[in-house]
Order: sequence, then structure tokens, then C-alpha cells
Amino acid sequence: MSVARGRMAVNPEKLNAFVGKFLGDAGAAMHGPAILIGEQLGLYKALAADGPLSSEGLAEKTGISERYLREWLAGQAASGFVEYDPGSKRYSMTPEQKFGLTVEDSPVYIPGVYYIIASAYKDQRKIAEAIKAGKGFGWHEHHNDLFIGTKKFFRPGYQANLVNSWIPALEGVVPKLEVGARVADVGCGLGASTILMARAFPKSHFIGFDYHLESIEWAQNDAVTEGVTRNTDFEVATAKDFRGTEYDLVTFFDCLHDMGDPVGALQHVRKALKPDGTLMVVEPFAREQVEQNLTPVGRIFYNASLLICVPASLSQEVGRGLGAQASDSGLNEVFREGGFTRVRKAIETPFNRIFEARR
Ligand SMILES: C[S@@+](CC[C@H](N)C(=O)[O-])C[C@H]1O[C@@H](n2cnc3c(N)ncnc32)[C@H](O)[C@@H]1O
Repeated sequence: MSVARGRMAVNPEKLNAFVGKFLGDAGAAMHGPAILIGEQLGLYKALAADGPLSSEGLAEKTGISERYLREWLAGQAASGFVEYDPGSKRYSMTPEQKFGLTVEDSPVYIPGVYYIIASAYKDQRKIAEAIKAGKGFGWHEHHNDLFIGTKKFFRPGYQANLVNSWIPALEGVVPKLEVGARVADVGCGLGASTILMARAFPKSHFIGFDYHLESIEWAQNDAVTEGVTRNTDFEVATAKDFRGTEYDLVTFFDCLHDMGDPVGALQHVRKALKPDGTLMVVEPFAREQVEQNLTPVGRIFYNASLLICVPASLSQEVGRGLGAQASDSGLNEVFREGGFTRVRKAIETPFNRIFEARR
């Protein structure tokens, strides 16, 4: 039965279902900052190591006020991130909750993405103003949480896939890297991909380029911590002016769509590659049509695209605005305009598409 509300015919059952969905979403949105608190204060790790624990027990382990922990634990239990036993009034974590919330290298490490979400909330009003004015909002203009979150969120996926499966899916690249190749990692951010490749292929040399100075400084520090300074360099440069020629491999990890002029970038890469060199482009997973991307993963990517990727692209020259859900055909057009005619999708995962292009 429909109830007329003004000129709208509202179906009560559908309204209930929609409100139920809203409750789930609002709870998840409110839970986000508590996830970051759990990560930053080491609460998940403490509970995982020593649980089951009461709020008093967790307070004793961590030295954090019991009154706060009582609320934090109940909120985590209501969110399904920890378990609660009413009999003993103690909280614990299942092996799956421990894996997703405490193992930073796990491919499903959950807290990382919440840094990106936090930055989007912090920058939201500025982004709304940019949207209203039809202007861009540069990657570098965001809160630092975006840069930290991008590394925390993407690195576990790279660690799980890059050396074991993505690079081997490229034609003839592994043997070159094993012997000693020259590699440019363009739009490298904090250098997670650069460092993983440098560790796996110590005879090759890797230069990470990014236009964002702070990201490059972070990458340089991480290279020291990870012990790969011998075969890495990190430099500030745009995708259209990075230095060097005769590269065996040029990589773009999740950044081509953020660029204002992806075609100009690829034209530059074409000149920088050896005649038999390879261009590897990692882009977010997407299918051809909007309706095929109306999925939980597409929901994250379209919203990230609105808040981060499209404004980043529109802030740069040309402002192509490819977006984080650019279709294969949209990307193939960019490859073609950039001068690459031999392009294939080498492999894909639920989150990424990996393209290989040759001159
Ligand atoms: C989503 S982040 C990806 C970072 C890194 N590749 C990763 O996978 O962790 C996009 C990166 O592209 C960089 N970027 C955007 N436009 C650029 C341009 N025109 N030239 C060089 N870097 C650019 C940003 O500074 C940012 O570090």
C-alpha cells in the first residue's frame, strides 16, 4: 500500500528497506573514526594479542582510560569488528578479525582505507566549492591522511600481487629485471610499488617520480628504512617531464586517471622507453558500462573518483578527467592517442586492471 506524502507516493515497505540501508551506512560512517583510533592507539593489536579481555583488562594492557575503552569496545562489537561475551563481559577477536585489523601486510588490511576516507571528510567543503565553481582540486591540496592512506591501502595489494603475478603477466619483463633493467615508476606517491620492485630485483635500478614534493620526501625516507637506497632514486617530476631515456619498463600505479593530460604523459613515456620497452599501467577495476560498476567496489571507486581523482585531473592542464572508473575503451583511446597501438590487458584482480603497452 502506498501512502501519499505531498505529491509523492511512498511505499512503506520500500521506505523501511531504504531507512534500514541508511542505518547501516550511517553506522559505518560513524564507526570510521573509531577504526582509526583503534589502529593508532594499538587497541586492535592489544586485544588480538591478549583477548578475551574486559574493558578493565584492555585498559590495564594499554594504559588507556577504561571509560573510553568501554565505549570503544561496545562500538566495535556493535560493528562486528570484535566479539562480545555477555556472560564474562569480555571482548575477543576471531582469526578473521585479527587478520583484517592487525596484519598490516594482509591483502585485506582494513584500517588503511579509512585514512583516505578521513581526508575526504576533512577536505569535503573545499571539494564542494571546487565542484560548484567547476574548478579542480589538486592531489597536493588534500590533507596528509590521503597520502598516508593511499600507501596503507594500496601497498598490501601490491605486496600480494605485483612481484608474484602482475609483473610475470607482462611479456618478457621478469628476465630483464633479473639481469638488470632501468625502470621509471611514474606518479609513485610514497613509493610503495617502487620499493617492492627494488627489493625483488636488486640488479635493476628504479626511479620513482611524482610531482608532489612531500610524497617524494616520504618515499626517500621509506627507501632508507627498507634498505633499498642502493638501487632506487626518488625525484620530483611530472609525468610529462620526468628525466631519462632508454627505460626497459615504465610503470603507472593507480595514477594515470588522476593526471590532467594522460595522453601527454604517454607521449612522453613513448620517447623515454627503449624500442622494445614495456609500459605497465595499473588502473582500478571497472567494467565498460556504468550499470556494471554499481557494485560495492564500484561504490567506493565512483565516490573516491568524485572526491579525489576527477578534481585532481581537472586541476591540471588539459583536465581530461578520466575518473577512477574509466572503461577499457576509454583507456584504450588514451593509449592510442598517446602513440601506443600494441595494448592488452595482461591480468586483472577484483580491485585492479593491469595493462601492458608496447611501442
Ligand atoms: C592515487 S595516487 C597513487 C600513488 C602511487 N602510485 C601508489 O600506487 O601508491 C596518485 C599519484 O599520482 C600523482 N600525480 C598526479 N598527477 C601527476 C602528474 N601529472 N605527474 C606526476 N605525478 C602525478 C599524485 O601526486 C599521487 O602521488
